[in-house]
Amino acid sequence: MSDVTLTTLLNLKQRGEKIAMLTCYDATFAATACAAGVEILLIGDSLGMVLQGHDSTLPVTIDDMAYHTAAVKRGNKGALILSDLSFMSAATLEQTYQSCAKLMQAGAHMVKLEGGAWLAETVSLLAERGIPACVHLGLTPQSVNVFGGYKVQGRGEEQAQKMLDEAIALEQAGAALLLLECVPSALAARISAAVQIPVIGIGAGPDTDGQVLVLHDMLGLSLTGRTPKFVRNFMHGQASIAEALGLYTRSVKDQSFPAPEHEFSA
Ligand code: KIV
Ligand code: NA
Repeated sequence: MSDVTLTTLLNLKQRGEKIAMLTCYDATFAATACAAGVEILLIGDSLGMVLQGHDSTLPVTIDDMAYHTAAVKRGNKGALILSDLSFMSAATLEQTYQSCAKLMQAGAHMVKLEGGAWLAETVSLLAERGIPACVHLGLTPQSVNVFGGYKVQGRGEEQAQKMLDEAIALEQAGAALLLLECVPSALAARISAAVQIPVIGIGAGPDTDGQVLVLHDMLGLSLTGRTPKFVRNFMHGQASIAEALGLYTRSVKDQSFPAPEHEFSA
């Protein structure tokens, strides 16, 4: 596989081939995921929960993110490396630049920020400085304390229209990618059709341009005993982790994942 770039992802969207993305935090899993055909490795701040054992992503620092990005880079075999800006690491513009420098110099090809249309100016300034940005919309876990829990977002026509408008504004500002977490499938389908940039979903139904899951979740590992509704255990019936990751990629590509039981209604 030749190296995955933004151009590769745009071509996949245009061809209607689904993009397989998976979270990844170290070199060995990076190599394993690449061998399984995963196109985007996300160093998610979910590492605060699945690696560090915190009960939210808020304690994660930008140095934690850079450390795991560097580890993933060493095992990477051609995937696009996307790294999360951790909680409050992009609160001011100055901080955003410093945080992005750490991630890009550790090996990221793109950064991800949680937010909405208010990030438009940031996204455009980053693009001018050579940093492609993915904006995470819907359930943004860094705002769990504002939401009052991990809840489906974008329900009802008013909220749906607001998220659609935000997606379009962010594309116009120069966002490279969008990520939708826990939104009704019908809304995710509308957003994916309305923008030219690829839209990756988690708990967003089958009609986004690609899918992502947290590695530990899709391997059936759980620290809390609770597994979100949108997760499928790909380890089930497989003899190895490598096979489970291969099954994940195939299931995203042949669109057997996500299935109706993984979706949220409007
Ligand atoms: O941190 C993470 O793993 C993420 C995904 C859930 C999209 O942001
Ligand atoms: Na994240």
